[in-house]
Amino acid sequence: STYLRRGLLSSAARSPRLLSSTRLAPSLSQTYAAGMKILAVLYKGGEAAKQESRLLGTVENQLGIRPWLESLGHEYIVTDDKEGSDSVFQKHIVDAEVLITTPFHPAYVTREIIEKAKNLKICITAGVGSDHVDLNAAVEKHIQVLEVSGSNVVSVAEHVIMSILLLVRNFVPAHEMIERGDWQVSDIARNAYDLEGKVVGTIGAGRIGYRVLQRLVPFNCKELLYYDYNALPEEAAKAVGVRRVDDLKDFVSQCDVVTVNCPLHEGTRGLVNADLLKHFKKGAWLVNTARGAICDKDAVAEALKSGQLSGYAGDVWNVQPAPKDHIWRTMKNPLGGGNGMVPHYSGTTLDAQQRYAAGTKSILENYLENKPQEPQNIIIGLSGYETKAYGVRK
Ligand code: NAI
Repeated sequence: STYLRRGLLSSAARSPRLLSSTRLAPSLSQTYAAGMKILAVLYKGGEAAKQESRLLGTVENQLGIRPWLESLGHEYIVTDDKEGSDSVFQKHIVDAEVLITTPFHPAYVTREIIEKAKNLKICITAGVGSDHVDLNAAVEKHIQVLEVSGSNVVSVAEHVIMSILLLVRNFVPAHEMIERGDWQVSDIARNAYDLEGKVVGTIGAGRIGYRVLQRLVPFNCKELLYYDYNALPEEAAKAVGVRRVDDLKDFVSQCDVVTVNCPLHEGTRGLVNADLLKHFKKGAWLVNTARGAICDKDAVAEALKSGQLSGYAGDVWNVQPAPKDHIWRTMKNPLGGGNGMVPHYSGTTLDAQQRYAAGTKSILENYLENKPQEPQNIIIGLSGYETKAYGVRK
C-alpha cells in the first residue's frame, strides 16, 4: 500500500528552477536548484480508489499531480505509512523540502519530527485544519504551513446539519431497528424531536460555523447563538439572526444543540471537558466535526451514558485512524441511541477532493514559481502566525 516512485528527470526538468525567495540562497551560483523531494502522506484508497479516479486524496490517485511534478523533475513520494520511526513518512521527512498531508489520515508533524526535518520549508494541508502540525515548532524553524482554505467548508457544514438532524430525530436507532427486522415506533419516538423551536449554538463562527448558521435559518430554530473571540461582521450576524454570547459556560447552558466549528489549538484542546459538560442543558445534543481532541473523549462518553448528553455525532477523533476499541465507536445514551459517529470523511466528499487537490496544486505552483500565496491559505508564514483563527496571540 506504500507508493514509492521516484521522479525521473525529464529534459524540461533539467532546466533550472528559481529558488523561492522564501529560502535563503547561500550564493549566487546556487540561486537555481534541481528537482526537490516532495513527500505526501495520504490515505489508502484500496479497491475504491482503483475504481473511482475522483478519489484524488488517496495514495493511489496521489492528488492527480504526479505527471505534472515529474515533468518538472521533482521527486514525488506518496505513502500512507506514517507511524513509527521506520515508517516511510519518517524515513523521507529528513530531507523532504515539501510535505503534503491531509487531516483525514494525519501525519503528525510533532516538534521531534520538525527537528529531524532539516530540509523542510513548507507543509501543505490538502484540506482545512493544520493542527496535526506542531505550529509553534514550525514558527520557530521558519517552516511555512498552508492549507486550502474554504475547499471543504460547505461539505462539512452540510454534514453538521445532517448530524444535528440525525441526533435530534433519533435516526440511527430507527434505521438499525429496520435492519434488524423490528418495528416498534414508540421505542424511537420516545426520544425524537423537531429541530424547529430549539436553540442551536456554534463554538466558532468562521467559514464553517457561519455556513452552518446560514443553513439553519429555514429550520425556524428558537434562537441561533455563537461563541467566538472574533466577532462576526454586524451585517453577517444580522443576515442569519445570530446572537453572540461572550461566556462559554453561559453559552452552552442556553443551547439545546451545540456544534463545534473552531480549529484545534492550545486554547481549544479539551475545551469541552467534564466541567463544561455540567453546564450543558440536561439532554443536549453535541456535534463535533472540527477536531476530536477539542472534546474530552471520556467526559463525552460519560455524559452520554448518564443522559447529560442525549447525543454526540461527528467524524473527527482524538487519534486517527481511531483504535478499534475507541469508546466513541460504541457509546450510547441510556435509551441505547445518540451515537452519530462516522470516520473522518465530511470534508472529503468527491466534490471537496476536486477542490482541495486543485488548491494543493496551486499552492505548490506558487511555491515552485516563487509567486505570493493567497493570504487566506497561510496559517504560518515566514514571520509566524498569519491566521487569526488559531487562538489569540500577541
Ligand atoms: P475558520 O478559520 O474560517 O474559522 C474558525 C473560527 O473558529 C474562527 O472564527 C476563530 O476565531 C474561531 N475560534 C478559534 N478559537 C476559538 C475558541 N477558542 N473559541 C471559539 N471560537 C474559536 O475555519 P473553518 O474553515 O471554519 O474550519 C474550522 C475547523 O473545522 C478547521 O480548523 C478544522 O479543524 C475543521 N474542519 C474539519 C473538516 C472535516 O472534514 N471534519 C474539514 C474542514 C475543516
